[in-house]
Formats: sequence, structure tokens, C-alpha cells
Amino acid sequence: MKTLFKLAIILLSMMMLLPSTTHSIVVESNESYIKSATFLSEKFEVGPGKVAVKTLLDIDFPKGHIGVKSFDVEVVDEVGKSVPLYETYLHHWFAVKYIENITMSHYIKQSHDLRNGIEFERNEGLCQGFLLPHYWGSGGESRGTSSNLPDPFAVELGNPTKLKDGFKEKWLFSIMVIDTRGTHDRKGCSECRCKLLNLPNNFYNVTVGINGQLLPRNYKGGLFCCQDNLQCKLRNDFHGPTRNLSLRYKIRWVDWDEHRVPLRFYILDSTDRVRSNGSTPIHDCQAEYTIPRNHDSDSPHVKKANIPMTKGGYLVYGTAHMHTGVVNTTLYGQDGRVLCTSNSKYGTGKEAGNEKGYLVGMSVCYPKPGSIKIKDGEVLTLESIYENKFRTGAMGHFYIYLADQIPKKDLNI
Ligand SMILES: *[C@@H]1O[C@H](CO)[C@@H](O)[C@H](O)[C@H]1NC(C)=O
Ligand SMILES: *[C@@H]1O[C@H](CO)[C@@H](O)[C@H](O)[C@H]1NC(C)=O
Ligand SMILES: *[C@@H]1O[C@H](CO)[C@@H](O)[C@H](O)[C@H]1NC(C)=O
Ligand SMILES: *[C@@H]1O[C@H](CO)[C@@H](O)[C@H](O)[C@H]1NC(C)=O
Ligand SMILES: *[C@@H]1O[C@H](CO)[C@@H](O)[C@H](O)[C@H]1NC(C)=O
Ligand SMILES: *[C@@H]1O[C@H](CO)[C@@H](O)[C@H](O)[C@H]1NC(C)=O
Repeated sequence: MKTLFKLAIILLSMMMLLPSTTHSIVVESNESYIKSATFLSEKFEVGPGKVAVKTLLDIDFPKGHIGVKSFDVEVVDEVGKSVPLYETYLHHWFAVKYIENITMSHYIKQSHDLRNGIEFERNEGLCQGFLLPHYWGSGGESRGTSSNLPDPFAVELGNPTKLKDGFKEKWLFSIMVIDTRGTHDRKGCSECRCKLLNLPNNFYNVTVGINGQLLPRNYKGGLFCCQDNLQCKLRNDFHGPTRNLSLRYKIRWVDWDEHRVPLRFYILDSTDRVRSNGSTPIHDCQAEYTIPRNHDSDSPHVKKANIPMTKGGYLVYGTAHMHTGVVNTTLYGQDGRVLCTSNSKYGTGKEAGNEKGYLVGMSVCYPKPGSIKIKDGEVLTLESIYENKFRTGAMGHFYIYLADQIPKKDLNI
């Protein structure tokens, strides 16, 4: 419990809280039973070279007892135009669930003090503490990665019988974007290369990493160097306007009923150095890693983790959150069978969603319902493969949704 709290504080202290403002909402109706709404988050300001790390509290979200079918996000400017990754790189967005003490709501809204009256409700795991807690989330590959869950499956939310008395279910966005307009080294800047940023002099003396200890001096780049409001070095002659951006997000959902089948959501991390304490696995995810250039080899870089699934289930969906440079990533069963491979898609043009040289999508596995079952206690192997090039802040997060049962009628199709 204590470590969970500490990690939550580490994570949240890295972010700047923004006040809630009004947002615009478009609820679209369709004859079909699936409801859909597009929301616009509050604005955040970016300028050339600037990093923005924000927590957007109490975001608009469909109400009631629902089953979410998809959650798609992109960055737009003030007139709603999609912003390409080479202007503002979307490092990540996470949608995180929390519950709020209703009598303290007003205070929390005024003060942005999250120390009291709020409890985070993380996904099913498997990283330790509060690491990778989100229900939905991705990065530059958002526009090209499907989040659709096939029928009859959905993520059940807002079940009134499960909600703690006196609390309300809410959602926040935790985001990191990097405005790379005018920077010397766009790619390095998108990878949060420390030496490109104007870090404070005492940076390595005071900055604490994932494990709660000071960052090693040889930490060359990643999440911890991309702090809110830091700036990547600009070309001398570059001047560009600051601007206000927001997240535009579309959620599709259904009203919950007995025909829906709930899913459990897991994020597996290829940096997880699992240990065991008797029969209890102890996870030790690093969230990110550095890929050294290996001059002696042409082989791609492979990062592997062996991760026990205490509780298994039927695989319904699989994809990955990776960074530019990824080749593919595969999740294997204990017997070596392939559960899912997610392949990378790179852009070839200029327009948002197809930015040349950037990772713009990861493929999704939709196994035939019932065809892939992970056993309770099965040890999965996650393998993330990147090109053999120096990279900082590489990620290898595999997302899976598991169902406890498959409806009979779907098994027979
Ligand atoms: C409504 O249904 C049509 C046809 O099935 C589909 O193309 C469209 O995206 C749907 N709209 C929404 C809001 O889901
Ligand atoms: C909510 O907060 C109030 C004020 O701090 C406190 O008295 C109350 O016990 C809290 N409610 C719950 C359910 O924790
Ligand atoms: C950081 O720590 C080192 C010793 O570990 C010390 O020499 C240096 O003065 C410190 N720098 C700042 C800015 O505090
Ligand atoms: C961004 O929005 C804020 C708040 O509405 C405003 O004060 C600021 O001037 C805007 N910045 C730009 C560059 O438009
Ligand atoms: C391992 O398990 C023992 C007994 O259940 C417990 O006391 C101990 O704290 C655990 N160690 C870790 C590192 O979780
Ligand atoms: C993933 O990429 C590696 C390296 O290029 C390749 O050898 C392997 O066949 C790929 N795996 C799949 C399942 O496509």
C-alpha cells in the first residue's frame, strides 16, 4: 500500500495539474445500439521545443453502467485540425480511473490537491504499484491502432453495486507531448534525450527514477528527462508561435446488460524483471529502456520478459504500445505457441496519421473467440524487437484483454 502511494506521488509530481474548464461534446446517435461521443479536452499550451506533461482531471466521460467498446485519441489545434507528430509528438496519453469522495469534490476542484479524497483504481496489472495504471492509452501510434472490442465484449464501468459508498467514479488524462518544431534533433527530442534538454544543474542530484532512487548519472534519456516545461535545444534562427492544443477523443459504448461479456485489461511490460516470493510473483517493471547500438551485429535488439499470469482467460484482443524503431512484438504461451504478434506501421507522407519515419500504428490481434486460452499460472514470454540503433526511452508494453467465458453461440461460429 505504501509503495503504491509513493509511486502515485512520484508519477503525479512529475505532472502539472490543469484546472478544469468547459469542453465541447458531440453526442452522435445511430440506429445501432452502440452510442458514440466525441469530446475535446481542456487546452494545454505548447511552444517550439517545449515539453508538456499534464494531468487533466475529471475529463468528460459517458455516465452510467456501461460497456466501453473503443477509446480513440488524437491531438488537435484550436480550430480542431489534426496536429502531425513532427510538430507535436504525442509521447503518451493514459486514461486513468479514480474515485473521488463526493463531499470533497469541491475542495479538490479548487485546490487540485490529490492527496486526500481520491483513490486510484488501476487496471488488472501486472506492473508493481501504480506503474502503467491506465485503462486506455497509447502514443504516436494512436491514430493507426484500433481500440475496438468485438461483440459481445466490452469494458464494464460504472456498476453501481461495485461503487464505494460516498464516492464517484471519475477519469483523468495523464499526457506527455513534445513540441519538436524548430529543434536541432527532432527524433532525439521525441525520445527525451537528456543532453538535448535544458535540465537544471542539480538534475541528477535530485531526480528520482522508477525505483524511488536517484537516477543514475548514465541515464541518457526517457521519461525522467522529459519534465513539464523543459525545452529541447532549438535551431538558432527558429521562431515559432506558442499554441493551444487539446486531445480530441471518441468513446463508443453500450448500456450494460446481461448479453455483454466483461473483459479484464492487462499491460505486460518487456522490462518486467519478475521475481517470486513463494508462489507470489513480484513484478519489477521499468516502463522504458535504452537500446544501445550494437556495432558487432546486424541483428535487431530483442528485449524479453517471462511473465506469469496468475489468472488466465480467453484472449479477445492484443496490441502494443511501442516507440519509433520497433520492428514487431510477440506474446508467446508457455509452450512456445504464438498468442499474438503486433506489427509496426510507419508513415510515408506528411499528413497527420501518416508522418514519414514515425511509428503511426500497431496491428491488433483479434483471435477467433475461444481459440486462444491462457491458463491460470501460465508463464507468458513477451518479446519486443527494435532496430539495432541507439534509442532512449524505448517502450515495450503489450496490451491484452481477457474474458472469463465465451458465449456458446460465439464458440460455434
Ligand atoms: C453509424 O453507423 C454507420 C453505419 O453502420 C457507421 O458508418 C457510423 O460510423 C456509425 N456512427 C457512429 C457514431 O457510430
Ligand atoms: C469523505 O470526506 C469527508 C471529509 O473529509 C470525510 O468526513 C468522510 O469520512 C469521507 N467519506 C468517506 C466515505 O471516506
Ligand atoms: C551534485 O552532487 C555532486 C556530488 O554527487 C556535487 O559535487 C555537486 O556539487 C552537486 N551539484 C549540485 C548542483 O547540487
Ligand atoms: C491559450 O489559452 C489560454 C487560456 O484560454 C490563453 O490565456 C492563452 O493566451 C492561449 N495561448 C495562445 C498561444 O493562444
Ligand atoms: C514475501 O513473503 C513474505 C511472507 O508472505 C512477506 O513477509 C514478505 O514481505 C514478502 N516479500 C516481498 C519482497 O514482498
Ligand atoms: C519480427 O521481426 C523479426 C526481425 O525482423 C523477424 O525475424 C520475425 O519473423 C518477425 N516476427 C513476426 C511474427 O513477424
